Amino acid sequence: MIQVNDLCVTYKSKQETIQALGPVSLTIKQGDIYAIIGPSGCGKSTLLNVLSGLIQNYDGTATINNVKLNPKAHKIGLIPQNFGLLPWQTVYQNCVLAIKIKGIKIDDNMEKRITYIMKKLNIEHLKNRYPKELSGGQQQRVAIARAFILNPDLLLMDEPFSALDALTREEAQALFLDMLHTYETTTVFVTHNIDEAIYMGKKIIMLSKNPGVIVEIIDNPLFNVPNMRETEAYGKLCTHIRHVIKKGWV
Ligand SMILES: Nc1ncnc2c1ncn2[C@@H]1O[C@H](COP(=O)(O)OP(=O)(O)O)[C@@H](O)[C@H]1O
Ligand SMILES: [Mg+2]
Repeated sequence: MIQVNDLCVTYKSKQETIQALGPVSLTIKQGDIYAIIGPSGCGKSTLLNVLSGLIQNYDGTATINNVKLNPKAHKIGLIPQNFGLLPWQTVYQNCVLAIKIKGIKIDDNMEKRITYIMKKLNIEHLKNRYPKELSGGQQQRVAIARAFILNPDLLLMDEPFSALDALTREEAQALFLDMLHTYETTTVFVTHNIDEAIYMGKKIIMLSKNPGVIVEIIDNPLFNVPNMRETEAYGKLCTHIRHVIKKGWV
């Protein structure tokens, strides 16, 4: 369980103090998938950076299973907007990067896990290629493989599908959900896209404009509903989210 209490982040420079986020409190249960949606500059990336351990200077508390959040103690997977692949490493090397950093040994079992995940994401035949020799969708699948090979306590994604064209994006989203269901990975992802929040978020957190506070947490009734875009509830939920956005974001 991940617990965030009264989290506030301010950036301080010589000239000014910028209140970037908060106060935000939330509880994320094992296996939950949270979508975060909010206006540009409201603190979405800042929140992910606290959860990933990149920002350590904040007010309030953030814990995983009652231990202060710490990337050394916890396995935290991060898929950044640009996928975060190292250009001078092959697909295989990029896939095992996170476990290597964690000092996890690649024994037979781990090798099996790596092969299984790479096959499932259809990148096994690309293992000796370099990122620049891949399409956007393939690069994205390598980033997803890397995250799931690590088997993280918490998976974070910052607008993970925004760089993909519409069709590749839908494919990647479906594949990603399939992986999440298989591994029941606790996930927090940021999106600008209302459809993506409804399709992929078990819960949807709506943040206000800067400094972001939680306006509403939606328990998404359409999560995992087949053909959810064709339901009446889908149109209603889109309208509701748009309404909250219009009210709170201007
Ligand atoms: N390193 C930084 N130094 C100063 N201000 C920052 C820094 N990073 C972000 N900010 C400011 O903090 C606020 C939140 O930023 P960010 O978390 O990137 O927003 P979002 O991801 O929602 O667009 C913005 O007003 C932004 O300008
Ligand atoms: Mg951002």
